[in-house]
Amino acid sequence: MSYDLVVIGSGPAGYVCAIRGAQLGLKTAVVEKDKTFGGTCLNVGCIPSKALLHASHLFEEAEHDFAGMGIGVSKPKLDLKQMLSFKQEGVDGNVKGVDFLFKKNKIDAIKGTGKIIGAGKIDVDGKTIEAKNIVIATGSDVTRLKGIEIDEKRVVSSTGALSLDKVPGKLLVVGAGVIGLELGSVWRRLGAEVQVVEFLDRILPGMDGEVAKQFQRILEKQGMTFKLGSKVTAIDTKGKTLKASVEPAAGGKAETVEADVVLVAVGRVPFTEGLGLKEAGVELDERGRVKIDDHFQTNVKGIFAVGDVVRGAMLAHKGEDEGVAVAELIAGKAGHVNYDAIPNVIYTYPEVASVGKTEEELKQAGVAYKVGKFPFTANGRAKVNKTTEGFVKILSDDKTDKVLGVHIVGPDAGTMITEATITMEFSGSAEDIARTCHPHPTLSEAMKEAALGVDKRAIHM
Ligand code: FAD
Ligand code: NAI
Repeated sequence: MSYDLVVIGSGPAGYVCAIRGAQLGLKTAVVEKDKTFGGTCLNVGCIPSKALLHASHLFEEAEHDFAGMGIGVSKPKLDLKQMLSFKQEGVDGNVKGVDFLFKKNKIDAIKGTGKIIGAGKIDVDGKTIEAKNIVIATGSDVTRLKGIEIDEKRVVSSTGALSLDKVPGKLLVVGAGVIGLELGSVWRRLGAEVQVVEFLDRILPGMDGEVAKQFQRILEKQGMTFKLGSKVTAIDTKGKTLKASVEPAAGGKAETVEADVVLVAVGRVPFTEGLGLKEAGVELDERGRVKIDDHFQTNVKGIFAVGDVVRGAMLAHKGEDEGVAVAELIAGKAGHVNYDAIPNVIYTYPEVASVGKTEEELKQAGVAYKVGKFPFTANGRAKVNKTTEGFVKILSDDKTDKVLGVHIVGPDAGTMITEATITMEFSGSAEDIARTCHPHPTLSEAMKEAALGVDKRAIHM
């Protein structure tokens, strides 16, 4: 078979690329090695983790917050099996959706492992298919720690942590990044004692420092404990309880921490295994990512790459936007991704969301900036809902007032960040947000007030 476009990998970067290619009239196929389409995100990432975050949050609310609102229920009982089925139904629905979209757009969905055997040629389990353009969208895999074997039962990656068959008495999380805090939150809400060991002296590296500090305090109040500046160097799995050796990051005396389950969440690495890149002459960068130019093209003409397997944030929406852009470029249009306006959300409670530069980054770059900050304690809707933890912080250019970064800790921060992202996409100013009418009473008014705060004229503070 011969195609205009063959995409290897059906995660958010790959399937979206295929759909956009087909929309633009390219004869398109997708090759996927797993049983189901949708990649990490739909099968063992974004979707199942959000299902468990949603269900476990309601479980906790029912136990702690309902009575205060005058809702009398008996202490909620966890039916973990049913909660896991709820999660799986959500995954199945989303995966089926991708199947449907492939059919609707007349995309050939080919199951099998794709191996590039030269420009324009792909081997799929012994069959050769031809393609004018190949897009590599093979995603990423779990980073492993030397000497620590992940069995996905007691020593788990995010994949195992999405399917534990009982709530661990004690969960030790290695890595205070997004996965550690999201999945740590799930199991804490369901009854586990959760301790997080983090190599650095702060949680969430890369996020605004003030946001990370306040968020850590909130998580500690919820009962999560942190051991910063520390690393897990070994896990003794012989006994009934796991024994983890935890050492200071700089080296020194190790202590033993016991746990029923250890979640290793120390990042992800690009996945290029079995793709035949070496033989095809496709270059990787120093971190094993497929090297691309500004148009997503590798050093081999006609071979492109997008998503987690290339540089940049490992986020589904970043991959999707790259998928669209590369399909448009291949079809002769002007595809483009604005990497300065990619939002980042942590779906805990409260949520954390950001877009653009952090204060630390602006300071380091020597950019003069103004700060407008507004706490949810002063927002009417948050007050009445009794969800007042957190704040909105807007950073704008000192001279031009252009929005450079927005950081939120608070309920529904993930939805609220879109307003900031659109403002940045249009090169808008804090004044633009401040002069935009926001509906009352909504949490989004905290965004408007923070924008007014940039010019020291917030109304409710
Ligand atoms: P993937 O989704 O990894 O898909 C790659 C696909 O390629 C896979 O299906 C794989 O089987 C296939 N493949 C690989 N090699 C071959 C081959 N040789 N032949 C055929 N097929 C092949 N991001 C967010 O934005 N929001 C979130 O809430 C979020 N939550 C997450 C939660 C967890 C627990 C995890 C692990 C990740 C989460 N992410 C989230 C990150 C998100 O999942 C990734 O950024 C996203 O899936 C990357 O998309 P991709 O298409 O590049 O790769
Ligand atoms: P991460 O990069 O977010 O965090 C890893 C953490 O582990 C860092 O804080 C790092 O300092 C720490 N660490 C590294 N080595 C360590 C060691 N030996 N001991 C102790 N700590 C160590 O990676 P994470 O959480 O695994 O997530 C992987 C990717 O998946 C992220 O890049 C993220 O973009 C994506 N993701 C996105 C989500 C979202 O958008 N809501 C949710 C989950 C994952």
